[in-house]
Amino acid sequence: MDTQVNGNTKVDIKGLAEKWKGKRGNLIMILHEIQNHYGYVPREVSLQLSEVLDVPLARIYEVITFYNFFKLEPPGKHTISVCMGTACYLKGGAKLLDEIKNMFAVEEGQTTKDGLFHLQVVRCLGCCGLAPVMMIDGKIFGKVKPDELMNILSPYVKGEV
Ligand code: FES
Repeated sequence: MDTQVNGNTKVDIKGLAEKWKGKRGNLIMILHEIQNHYGYVPREVSLQLSEVLDVPLARIYEVITFYNFFKLEPPGKHTISVCMGTACYLKGGAKLLDEIKNMFAVEEGQTTKDGLFHLQVVRCLGCCGLAPVMMIDGKIFGKVKPDELMNILSPYVKGEV
């Protein structure tokens, strides 16, 4: 039997179901434990959970999508946050976002196929004077021009960061 999901050891769903049996909010608590383990809630784990708990898969997805802290995509090794707050938007934030989407064939809220980058949009990183701003894993890059993106991102692509 397959013992891994996305490179992680499989979580013991039956054990989790037993642990949270009869407790209030047990589905949410189980989903938290699953996400803590994998970094997101893999579809095949949701399917298994649906069988073990005898809860329709649609109900599980309803809960996952209602609470925005649950993720359906594996997290990337690095997170690129592009600011689309007013100042950054007016100074070309949308162009940066488009350029990154094209460079890595990824949409906002998604992770690149190789798992290297997760792309997200944020509303104001608190340094509007540096607009347009992007952040990679907590490091701020200000006054970024689209043609500088390759230089900024290549150390991450080469694994130097
Ligand atoms: S709007 Fe982008 S940092 Fe404030």
